[in-house]
Amino acid sequence: MSEIILEIDGQEVKASEGMTILEAARGAGISIPTLCYHEKLEPYGGCRLCIVEVEVRGWAKLVVSCVYTVENGLIVRTRNEKIDRIRRMILELMMAHAPDAFELQDLAKEYGADRDRFEKEASFCIHCGLCVRYCAEVKKNNAVGFIDRGSRKEISFVPEIAAKECWDCKECFPLCPTEALQAAYVLTKALYFPPTGE
Ligand code: SF4
Ligand code: FES
Repeated sequence: MSEIILEIDGQEVKASEGMTILEAARGAGISIPTLCYHEKLEPYGGCRLCIVEVEVRGWAKLVVSCVYTVENGLIVRTRNEKIDRIRRMILELMMAHAPDAFELQDLAKEYGADRDRFEKEASFCIHCGLCVRYCAEVKKNNAVGFIDRGSRKEISFVPEIAAKECWDCKECFPLCPTEALQAAYVLTKALYFPPTGE
């Protein structure tokens, strides 16, 4: 695999062909915020929080760093006024759903996001898809999935699968940036599985 040399935030960074900007940046100790990325999962590009600015042949454009692959001579900027403004807006929209999520609160502080900018629509899930994709791609169980579409989209456990697989697994719980996942599991369990005295 050939070596790629690019520049991130003024620093020369060596990467391998096929790596994403996010992977190259993290490998060089440069941090880019993410909410839907996981190293064991296929690139997804859902939350857009990881956007960065790239410059190719003098042209600057915004790209999603967890899916955009490195190129020789690419110039990348991980923060500037435009990027911060977009990240702030993304966080404000997410906080309308999950205003008390600690991960969002920390990011909001960093980017000066106002948790009360948009009217609250507390669903707690920010649709990062980490739980759904982890269960499908890593555990191969498909015990949790999305139901409905648009603003009504929410996650749901499949009771028959969850009853067999989830109790001893729960590997998706720590991935959730909000408390939505645990709440949905507790609800599913309460509705479908009779207490066993555990
Ligand atoms: S429940 Fe949590 S991990 Fe699953 S999609 Fe929603 S926010 Fe993401
Ligand atoms: S981390 Fe890249 S789009 Fe979510």
